[in-house]
Amino acid sequence: MGVTVVKCGGAVPAEAVCADLADHVGEVVLVHGGAPEIARLSGELGVASRTLVSPSGVTSRHTDPAMLDVVTLALTGRAKPRLLRSLAGHGIPAVGLTGLDDGLLQARRKAAQRAVRDGRTVVVRDDHSGRVTEVRPRVLRVLLDAGFVPVVSPPATGEDGAPVNVDADRAAAAIAAALGAERLVLLTSAPGVLRDASDAGSLLGRCALPHEGPVPHAASGGMHRKLIAAREALLAGVPRVSVSDGRIPHPVTAALGGAGTTLEIS
Ligand SMILES: Nc1ncnc2c1ncn2[C@@H]1O[C@H](COP(=O)(O)OP(=O)(O)OP(=O)(O)O)[C@@H](O)[C@H]1O
Ligand SMILES: [Mg+2]
Repeated sequence: MGVTVVKCGGAVPAEAVCADLADHVGEVVLVHGGAPEIARLSGELGVASRTLVSPSGVTSRHTDPAMLDVVTLALTGRAKPRLLRSLAGHGIPAVGLTGLDDGLLQARRKAAQRAVRDGRTVVVRDDHSGRVTEVRPRVLRVLLDAGFVPVVSPPATGEDGAPVNVDADRAAAAIAAALGAERLVLLTSAPGVLRDASDAGSLLGRCALPHEGPVPHAASGGMHRKLIAAREALLAGVPRVSVSDGRIPHPVTAALGGAGTTLEIS
């Protein structure tokens, strides 16, 4: 049986996703983000949440050292335990991991990056985010073979061994590629890719992504990264990639049955 990688957005209710994985134990890897938990915890701890805007206009989280701690705590201390508890409640054997476990996700930190601030381009050097450069899937294979659902989130392992925040969608894409997965399902808090992000009725059944260059339809940084991740997975040989609604009953079964948006390379 082929592997399916399911990425669950932070705003997706965990319960229905977890219940829906019972039929896929040993063939599914669950990857998660946690934007709402990160926002909440940064507020509780009084760590300012700041955004970087690239010269091309793409926004991302400014992960300074304090925010890296918040991200790690929110993902490993809140988002992941919630998923593990829910999986356990459905009798599903699951193990939580980050990209630091056995070097699962290797990443290169952006030591210096250009950003636009107050209309001027500045160089930001204290950002601890980066890109996945390699996946070492051994620990995932061991767990899958033993009948566990691995539950994976950032951070990844930097070149110096220190944690590096990475985008969870792109991490899921890299994991799917490394495992030779048959499916990548990106569950989010939208019906799929919408032609018009403000019109829930404008769902695209299919969405063609160009080989390179700008991706269409993304009205936010979050959806932009999701489509980039989908393209990376497709180009790396993952045959079926979809963005689907995580807020409906049986969201994984629905996505595997064709609900949401199927991505393809144009
Ligand atoms: N064309 C579009 N179609 C659908 N949603 C869109 C579109 N453009 C922007 N969006 C927004 O993108 C959001 C999904 O990305 P977002 O990064 O916020 O969530 P996520 O990736 O599911 O969760 P997390 O980042 O916590 O892992 C949707 O909730 C929607 O508001
Ligand atoms: Mg996101």
